[in-house]
Amino acid sequence: MTTVSEAILSRRSIRAFLDKPVAPDLIKKIITQSARAPSGGNLQPWYVDVVTGDSHKKLLDLMDKKIADNPAGETRDYDFYPSDLPDKYTNRRRATGAGLYEAMGIAYDDKLARWDAMKLNWEFFGAPVGLFFSIDKFMGKNQWCHLGMLMQNISLLAIENGLATCMQEAWAVYSETMHDFLNLPDERVFYCGMALGYEDKTAQVNKFITEREKLVKFVSFID
Ligand SMILES: Cc1cc2nc3c(=O)[nH]c(=O)nc-3n(C[C@H](O)[C@H](O)[C@H](O)COP(=O)(O)O)c2cc1C
Repeated sequence: MTTVSEAILSRRSIRAFLDKPVAPDLIKKIITQSARAPSGGNLQPWYVDVVTGDSHKKLLDLMDKKIADNPAGETRDYDFYPSDLPDKYTNRRRATGAGLYEAMGIAYDDKLARWDAMKLNWEFFGAPVGLFFSIDKFMGKNQWCHLGMLMQNISLLAIENGLATCMQEAWAVYSETMHDFLNLPDERVFYCGMALGYEDKTAQVNKFITEREKLVKFVSFID
């Protein structure tokens, strides 16, 4: 049995998946267990849409057209990053991007190749299952945090079950399309997607491991 530490330490964002289906009962089990996530007042402020099979194919075909017609994307429901991100964070973001492109054999200044790599997001990187997360518009920052806990549970339970994930805010670049496709009510915010499937262990891109800051950089022990 996978321990929690093993699941946490082996979880990575996986960006190449095998063309191998995930049993529907396993998807249901993982989401059911993930919903044991805590939430303030036990509001459980989350909605999950699972896209597989024919609807998965329909979505990928639709995205092909949307990306071609509108590569800049649509009006987003929220900002991915604050506009004036201090250097400390910008540097981490750049280092992660650079490492990822290096793993894919893409030169950092090769914008075309980077765009081709970016577009793989909208194919779930080959994963047969797409999960989408949304939340009621009236919910606040607090409840968004709790939705994140559900998502983290899914990514860890995926590991326990031999699966892998990549969280994907890239889908929110096409929020209007996703609202329509998932038939979300107007009062819902489309947050994020998640690719779920079996890792392609031969893919170079999956060998990339991101850095983490040392404890002293972000923890204060108040004795
Ligand atoms: C909410 C959320 C959204 C993300 N969206 C994307 C995405 O759209 N595409 C992508 O390739 N990675 C995405 N990531 C993955 C992050 O880049 C990744 O978690 C980070 O670089 C740390 O790497 P690790 O997950 O391998 O530990 C997202 C992560 C989170 C938490």
